[in-house]
Amino acid sequence: MAAEAEDEIKDEKNPRPLDEDDIALLKTYGLGPYSTSIKKVEKEIKEMAKKVNDLCGIKESDTGLAAPSQWDLVSDKQMMQEEQPLQVARCTKIINPNTEDAKYVINVKQIAKFVVGLGDKVSPTDIEEGMRVGVDRNKYQIQIPLPPKIDPSVTMMTVEEKPDVTYNDVGGCKEQIEKMREVVELPMLHPEKFVKLGIDPPKGVLCYGPPGTGKTLLARAVANRTDACFIRVIGSELVQKYVGEGARMVRELFQMARSKKACIVFFDEVDAIGGARFDDGVGGDNEVQRTMLEIVNQLDGFDARGNIKVLMATNRPDTLDPALLRPGRLDRKVEFGLPDLESRTQIFKIHTRTMNCERDIRFELLARLCPNSTGADIRSVCTEAGMYAIRARRKTVTEKDFLDAVNKVIKGYQKFSATPKYMVYN
Ligand SMILES: Nc1ncnc2c1ncn2[C@@H]1O[C@H](COP(=O)(O)OP(=O)(O)OP(=O)(O)O)[C@@H](O)[C@H]1O
Ligand SMILES: [Mg+2]
Repeated sequence: MAAEAEDEIKDEKNPRPLDEDDIALLKTYGLGPYSTSIKKVEKEIKEMAKKVNDLCGIKESDTGLAAPSQWDLVSDKQMMQEEQPLQVARCTKIINPNTEDAKYVINVKQIAKFVVGLGDKVSPTDIEEGMRVGVDRNKYQIQIPLPPKIDPSVTMMTVEEKPDVTYNDVGGCKEQIEKMREVVELPMLHPEKFVKLGIDPPKGVLCYGPPGTGKTLLARAVANRTDACFIRVIGSELVQKYVGEGARMVRELFQMARSKKACIVFFDEVDAIGGARFDDGVGGDNEVQRTMLEIVNQLDGFDARGNIKVLMATNRPDTLDPALLRPGRLDRKVEFGLPDLESRTQIFKIHTRTMNCERDIRFELLARLCPNSTGADIRSVCTEAGMYAIRARRKTVTEKDFLDAVNKVIKGYQKFSATPKYMVYN
């Protein structure tokens, strides 16, 4: 008896490890007799349902339409009859405003003026003098307030999709980026600093420099970084056929900009419209000048602390009208010069980032071999180097390719380079 007990104690001290049968037994603990088979069947049902769905394909109810059996054509027709198309009118005057019997003078184009009341769905606070409104066709009651009319071609200028250029893609230009950010970002993020000091933040920046030095690139980077609405206008877009059209577009552009919380307007190639005023005796360019004067007017018109910033880019700052550039309109002028050695190295690295290159290419050497070249030149060198590699049926670009490309692009195309000419203007 005692021996048996001793045996048990020994057993407890080094228990036998569980073998597989034991584990299987433990796993069934708490399960019903058919649970595994039920689970299996459930899984099979799910698979079958999925298969059936796949075979049916996309149904109308998936695309937001109700199934035909649920259509109620009669009541839909009735609803459409009740809902009449509205007419656009302009509310020119409010008689007895802020009282019970306020009346509204509306002007329907080409028909007449009417004195009308409000429809059931509008409240008197919604309607202001000079607003566009929708009126019904029987009693001409005001049914809805409408937003101001903006030319669709102006609306198209807003940049909705952010460009994929970031500040990291701009080589060199440290100073320029800094200056630009100071003007664009600081007043939008910390307006109180300017209020405290009692100064107006700069309204706008003019970027100038020879072609291909990254003016448009930096503006795109700004557009990418900012949450503000970004409107991009090419100067030549504002040159229109009819007298007054260009000026109207500028007005509508700024009207749209003012309706946003914060907005950056970027005029690229502004020399198309911003040329200095002169009299050619014929008056052909008068229209362009009027457009430019409207910009000048709009630049004065808004409150500087309002969140509209104006950026302009040009190659020829000397041709611009002095009125456009005077402090108070465009306060800051940022020069984009030719990149120095360090910046050129950086630009080389940026443009070869996505290329399949040999490992240790001496970018400093390459940068040293391209004196007085712009960012666009360097980009062209990188592309040419790739072309050499393709011609030799290689998968990677070697340093030799780059050297050949430098010879071809920088030395060979020197006579096409406009940079020295533009350096004179800038
Ligand atoms: N600093 C830079 N860093 C990286 N790439 C650059 C730089 N400058 C220019 N590039 C390259 O050159 C191309 C052309 O530059 P960009 O369009 O900014 O020229 P630009 O100054 O606007 O010229 P233009 O006055 O003729 O409009 C860019 O797409 C970019 O690839
Ligand atoms: Mg440009």
